Amino acid sequence: MLLGSRQPKERTDLGLPVASLNETAAHAEVLVNATPGTVSVELLHSIGAPALAGTPLIDVGVGLSDDFTELSHPNSSLGEQIQEAFPLTPVVKTLCTMDSTVMIAPAGLDGPSTVFLSGDDAEAKRTTGRLLTDLGWPPSSQLDIGGITTARGQEHFALLFMGIAGGLGSHTFNINVVTRPSVQSPPSM
Ligand SMILES: NC(=O)c1ccc[n+]([C@@H]2O[C@H](COP(=O)([O-])OP(=O)(O)OC[C@H]3O[C@@H](n4cnc5c(N)ncnc54)[C@H](OP(=O)(O)O)[C@@H]3O)[C@@H](O)[C@H]2O)c1
Repeated sequence: MLLGSRQPKERTDLGLPVASLNETAAHAEVLVNATPGTVSVELLHSIGAPALAGTPLIDVGVGLSDDFTELSHPNSSLGEQIQEAFPLTPVVKTLCTMDSTVMIAPAGLDGPSTVFLSGDDAEAKRTTGRLLTDLGWPPSSQLDIGGITTARGQEHFALLFMGIAGGLGSHTFNINVVTRPSVQSPPSM
């Protein structure tokens, strides 16, 4: 795994190799966008569409105002904006509905919970699903909610997330989608 940074030489304490954004993109089989959603599209443009073409991009970003009360893409989503700007880069939105501590350790919660996937490219979603499984999300916890336009729902959940976090006094939680026993689970990816 390679981390991309604007200032790789200053990022010496991350425990993983760090390279420039361009170098990271050049080496990547799969890219992850984990930058502030307000600047993600601009940052990706600095790498350039040709360098990103064909590489699946897992987008966990959300664009929020400094006080976390407003979205930077209120009638759309960052995921859609990235997909539109980079049509040859299959974008999969996931993991943005929870805190980063939960993203990487879902088994640390009291019970199973749900991670959502949005994207137009089936193969990129399958790749993302495999990586999520490696991260500790069993296929039964992964819910494909549709094309990239459904990233909107994931990102807008950030507002409710902040309210729940306020109510609980903690960011270490997640939501779990439950159904009546007779409702079949979606086919696993
Ligand atoms: N943290 C969470 O729990 C969480 C949960 C759900 C979703 N998200 C989303 O995931 C994304 C990353 O979250 P984060 O908490 O890791 O964010 P962050 O710490 O603010 O930013 C991550 C990295 O992006 C680069 N960066 C920061 N500000 C920038 C700017 N103005 N212009 C360009 N690059 C900048 C920095 O790397 P360099 O300086 O090394 O380039 C920084 O270390 C965000 O979109 C956030 O909304 C986070």
